[in-house]
Amino acid sequence: MKTTNVAVIGCGYWGPNLIRNFNHISSCNMKICSDLDENRLKRMKQLYPSIETTKNYQDLLSSDDIDVVAIATPVRTHYEIAKNCLNAGKHVMIEKPITSSVAECNELIRLAKEKNKVLMVGHTFEYTASVNKIKEIIESGEIGDILYIASTRVNLGLFQDDINVVWDLAPHDISIMLYLLGKMPVSVNAQGKAHYKRNIEDVAWVSMNFNDGLIAFLHNSWLDPYKIRKMTLVGSKKMLVYNDIETNEKIKIFDKGIKVPPYYDTFAEFHFSYRYGDIYSPRIDEYEPLEKECSHFIDCVQKNETPLSDGYDGLKVVTILEAANDSIKNAGKAIPITLPES
Ligand SMILES: NC(=O)c1ccc[n+]([C@@H]2O[C@H](COP(=O)([O-])OP(=O)(O)OC[C@H]3O[C@@H](n4cnc5c(N)ncnc54)[C@H](O)[C@@H]3O)[C@@H](O)[C@H]2O)c1
Repeated sequence: MKTTNVAVIGCGYWGPNLIRNFNHISSCNMKICSDLDENRLKRMKQLYPSIETTKNYQDLLSSDDIDVVAIATPVRTHYEIAKNCLNAGKHVMIEKPITSSVAECNELIRLAKEKNKVLMVGHTFEYTASVNKIKEIIESGEIGDILYIASTRVNLGLFQDDINVVWDLAPHDISIMLYLLGKMPVSVNAQGKAHYKRNIEDVAWVSMNFNDGLIAFLHNSWLDPYKIRKMTLVGSKKMLVYNDIETNEKIKIFDKGIKVPPYYDTFAEFHFSYRYGDIYSPRIDEYEPLEKECSHFIDCVQKNETPLSDGYDGLKVVTILEAANDSIKNAGKAIPITLPES
């Protein structure tokens, strides 16, 4: 099979991680990278002398040698760059969030279909060992029906210029939750506050409401003294805590819960009983999720398959982000979620 030649656009903070992984994957050839900043290109050349560089990403669009493009530029630029890449006949992987609006994402999905090209979004957490272990635990029925999920993703900075904290941090929480639950919320409420940059909220709370009564809360902040990456899933049988900051024991399962008495005659006889059982941490075979994500993209291109995190997966997340923004601008009003059929 012909080697798949890869181009990476954007060599700021995240792009070099993509370059490192594509460079490591034997089924592809990390051929060229692009950035507007000459210094970033010099740095990439120092790290990977055989890689070509260009300041103008249009150069790689006209090259028949490039099969796939991975985009790690600021969110506001994703749509334009991805559209040009698809029109030039390239398969495209875009960093999260896929675009800065639902309309842009719908257009990329349509274009990828028309050109018969793979469109993937970098929802990295869907490729982690921990999240896949949690999915396995939920599907085994061990924690019972999920009553609610609460996720905290906070730290100090990094303030962004073009997107608020929800668009910056919540794509991770939302993509994890949708992947774990396999369903979309019916409405979203959110509140947020911009303290330092006008109209760019630096702290926010989002709730996603599902039609079976399940509720999922997200707290995102660039203004917090702690770096926290924690998700609690409260089930009808057990409770699970996923702490991504932990190096070992990222997942803990608590055999804790509440039992309502089956019958009682008087109010005095009514007592919940609380169960304080064992706590255990399942074994997880760790690997680098980004390598899994990048090789999955190359695999899908070579086998003409649909990626796990395809354009439609990106659309679901952007739909919720857009609703959250709408709700923030409308004092926390519930915004109904509607999604076109895939
Ligand atoms: N999956 C993850 O865990 C993860 C983590 C961090 C960032 N990201 C995503 O990666 C993307 C980039 O984020 P970042 O933190 O690396 O941003 P960054 O600002 O550090 O880097 C972006 C780079 O893109 C370059 N750029 C901008 N426009 C360009 C153009 N037209 N052509 C070529 N280069 C251009 C800039 O010069 C800059 O070097 C965002 O979508 C972000 O959400 C994902």
